[in-house]
Amino acid sequence: MDKIERAVALIRSSRKTIVLTGAGISTESGIPDFRSPGTGLWEKIDPMEVLSTKALYQNPEHFYQVGFQMLISMDDAEPNKAHEILTKLEREGYIDLLVTQNIDNLHQKAGSMEVLEVHGHTRSCYCLNCGMEVSMVDMNRILQKGEIPPKCPDCEGTLRPSVVLFGDSLPPCFDRAWSEVENGELLIVIGSSLEVGPVNYLANICKQLMIINLGRTTYDQQADLLIQGSASQILEQIYEKLHGNKGNLNECL
Ligand code: APR
Repeated sequence: MDKIERAVALIRSSRKTIVLTGAGISTESGIPDFRSPGTGLWEKIDPMEVLSTKALYQNPEHFYQVGFQMLISMDDAEPNKAHEILTKLEREGYIDLLVTQNIDNLHQKAGSMEVLEVHGHTRSCYCLNCGMEVSMVDMNRILQKGEIPPKCPDCEGTLRPSVVLFGDSLPPCFDRAWSEVENGELLIVIGSSLEVGPVNYLANICKQLMIINLGRTTYDQQADLLIQGSASQILEQIYEKLHGNKGNLNECL
């Protein structure tokens, strides 16, 4: 049995399958990941300088000039085939839950219905004082007036992005992701180095672990199935094998 056939067998026999995605699933949509040698964002920028709570509160000018611009730069990216296939697999009942570390909204753009964004999202910001949500458009408007740190239009409190920054605790949806993986059967990790906790601990508590990734990860040794390569190509092969057909994936998508 080759690796694709083994992947299909694991998916077919799993009573509950959760998928965890990382930045690697979005590189084929033109969004660089963080740790790929040579191209990863953290090779050029220190994340603690630009996307940490320390930067946000102690150096807001730098945070909004660099970190915030990185966040909104993903806005025009479009989902790629990997996102689209995950949407199909969800719709056909092969995936019970999608957990993502990504903040690029591409799973939602591809039509995935239930996405747990354990590192937050870039759709809006919120007021630290009254909790009011502010759209990114309005946030940009406030920033363009030179108001740093940006103030809440309602109570004059300080606004901040809804993205989980280094130094933040994770949102409540991570607790749900934890219990779903703990009670699930198969965890499929796609496009993540699994370097960052506590999300990477999900790979410790699942019953069966499948990793689809271009590069090496810290969990390769403990994976029940490791398929190294491009997320979209591997998912395309799995999808075709699942449907027992050859090469006419486009008719299915
Ligand atoms: N197909 C499959 N895997 C890919 C592809 C691709 N097309 N492109 C890149 N990869 C792999 C890389 O080899 C790498 O191992 O995806 C992985 C991405 O790893 P990271 O860059 O570390 O991204 P991620 O795991 O999502 O990082 C987790 O770290 O900086 C924080 O909050 C940020 O959510 C992020 C977290």
